[in-house]
Amino acid sequence: MRVTVIGSGYVGLVAGACFAETGNDVVCADVDEGKIAGLRRNELPIYEPGLEPLVRRNQDEGRLAFTTDIGAAVERAQVVFIAVGTPEGEDGSADLQHVLDVARVIGRHLNGPKVIATKSTVPVGTAERVREVIRAESQESFSVCANPEFLKEGAAVEDFMHPDRVVVGVDDDRARETMAQLYGPFFRKSDRILFMDIPSAEITKYAANAMLASRISFMNQIANLCELVGADVTNVRRGIGTDQRIGPAFLFPGPGYGGACFPKDVKALIRTARDAGAAADLLEAVETVNQRQKRVLLHKVDAAFDGALAGKTVALWGLAFKAETDDVRESPAIPLVEELLARGARVVAHDPHAMENARRYFGDRIGYAVDPYTAAHGADALVVVTEWLVYRNPDFDRLRSEMAGRVLVDGRNLYDAARMRGLGFSYASIGRP
Ligand SMILES: NC(=O)c1ccc[n+]([C@@H]2O[C@H](COP(=O)([O-])OP(=O)(O)OC[C@H]3O[C@@H](n4cnc5c(N)ncnc54)[C@H](O)[C@@H]3O)[C@@H](O)[C@H]2O)c1
Repeated sequence: MRVTVIGSGYVGLVAGACFAETGNDVVCADVDEGKIAGLRRNELPIYEPGLEPLVRRNQDEGRLAFTTDIGAAVERAQVVFIAVGTPEGEDGSADLQHVLDVARVIGRHLNGPKVIATKSTVPVGTAERVREVIRAESQESFSVCANPEFLKEGAAVEDFMHPDRVVVGVDDDRARETMAQLYGPFFRKSDRILFMDIPSAEITKYAANAMLASRISFMNQIANLCELVGADVTNVRRGIGTDQRIGPAFLFPGPGYGGACFPKDVKALIRTARDAGAAADLLEAVETVNQRQKRVLLHKVDAAFDGALAGKTVALWGLAFKAETDDVRESPAIPLVEELLARGARVVAHDPHAMENARRYFGDRIGYAVDPYTAAHGADALVVVTEWLVYRNPDFDRLRSEMAGRVLVDGRNLYDAARMRGLGFSYASIGRP
């Protein structure tokens, strides 16, 4: 099938590469000329495990191409995915400017029946707006469908190739049959393409992210309670995660959720609920707890120095919002660094893949170390922000000899508290005594 994906970021690039991998003829389009020029040379704009070989192979074998000519990309396609960003607008709602711009271009270049699928995360009613914008530009026949994406950064290719399910909101047979054909290869053993009405598909994406964000805020709140009453959240997590009704995923406490999705999607869902006259108090609480949680690591470092952070050197392990991604958008590291700097501390950070992106936020205001131990060199405190594998079992003797101080704040509960104290660290973690 001739597929065009407009927007070649985390979602569009992964979707395009995976559709090409299953034999389709795919063009990925983007307005970012630098990104497209790099992709043509197999230089990826993002770090995503397994993606580079997929792009290279499919490009070499002629199933995947990149362009900035969005109109031509639309004209050649049988199905067009809109995968551009939907950032947070000023009032918390999703900013649909890019989606509707793309819809306009699609309308102007419609040259025969096509299926137009929204893959960006968009509020309920957006597919309908996309339909109206295209209809205003063209008399050609077309279908719209809502096909939200559930991939996780850091495991995006794996998630796309082996999805738990694919959700497709449709209101005609052409869209249903096209999407069934396109996603069929990903479901050889089971059929988990969930066709539904378009508004339900749009809400499903937000409900999924809001549920996951709720679990994180819930556990963070339980963790903070554990600390105050002498309980250990790790035991509590195991105790509840083995309940089949609850399950073990997304129960790890930490420094708050971040990334390009949960924060903005929870806010956008709150906005949608308010606009519809529905209560959103549970979602508001999820958001409030998360804002508070993003300050937890700062409070722990601050407490370790009795509030006297000026002149102290703080090493950070991890800048990405989670492991296995270079994405720093809404990372808990950002407010932490800003607060540390505002209090007069010096910050030196290490991250295996996110330092280039972090530099856009912090420039030369912090130091960037080539490896974890160099970051810790001369530091009064070390804060573990991201759960990268490389931080999980470090050489603690070497770490001690590099550091000037002994404060170790573990934002991901990677280390054994008794062992850390035995090694002489002044150790703090999340929700453990
Ligand atoms: N990143 C994720 O993990 C993830 C997961 C599921 C869903 N989503 C959703 O998918 C959408 C895209 O997210 P992303 O993380 O891939 O964003 P991104 O910022 O990585 O990529 C978006 C791309 O769209 C391009 N673009 C913007 N306007 C354009 C236009 N008018 N024409 C062509 N290209 C244009 C940008 O240049 C950019 O390359 C968002 O709605 C997001 O909420 C993201």
